[in-house]
Amino acid sequence: MPAPLPVTVTAGAHGPWRVTDIRPCLGATLPPAARLRVEDGDATPDDGAWRLRGVTSNLRYTAEAERATLAGVQQGLGRPQASRAALIPIRKSAAWWDMAQDARRAVLEEESRHIAIGLEYLPGVARRLIHSRDLGEPFDFLTWFEFAPEHEAGFDTLLSRLRATKEWGFVEREVEIRLARD
Ligand code: HEM
Repeated sequence: MPAPLPVTVTAGAHGPWRVTDIRPCLGATLPPAARLRVEDGDATPDDGAWRLRGVTSNLRYTAEAERATLAGVQQGLGRPQASRAALIPIRKSAAWWDMAQDARRAVLEEESRHIAIGLEYLPGVARRLIHSRDLGEPFDFLTWFEFAPEHEAGFDTLLSRLRATKEWGFVEREVEIRLARD
């Protein structure tokens, strides 16, 4: 696992990704913006409509066999054919954070099959999980996905399957930002 890497998402007038839609899912949405960029390390000046920060981190819930399976199938970000992306910032409820680690794992995987369901959509979808909670940010996680246009319908199905799980009962704010790169 690489060392934690700070990541900044800036939405505004500049960036390689064109915002095609901002869909409020749960709780307050985010302001409109034309373009978006994701920057590792020190971000460029804040010229944006809004900015969200986080950091990459170690795994919390993934069992060793799952980690090995994921490592064997997952693809990296930045594939040339992956001209569609989604940024989905998520905040979970106090009830989630009040649980111990083993109880959260049980909800996430044994009861909700988050990892097993997600694996069905690899390698078409590449992803990155960014943690924001400990930075006092408005969201706990910034989730990022990249895929080719032909995998967009599958990605939509993945979203509806995950949102029907017990785990999503602990989500109290979620915004879906859909993006395209020409
Ligand atoms: C966490 C896999 C799709 C949101 C995780 C973890 C894995 C995983 C392995 C646990 C990381 C850890 O051990 O700490 C996948 C795979 C997907 C997928 C293979 C297929 C593309 C999604 C989607 C969303 C999402 C579409 C959002 C709509 C999250 C969130 C967490 C997470 C918020 C953090 C949960 C927490 O720590 O409470 N995912 N996921 N995932 N995933 Fe996914």
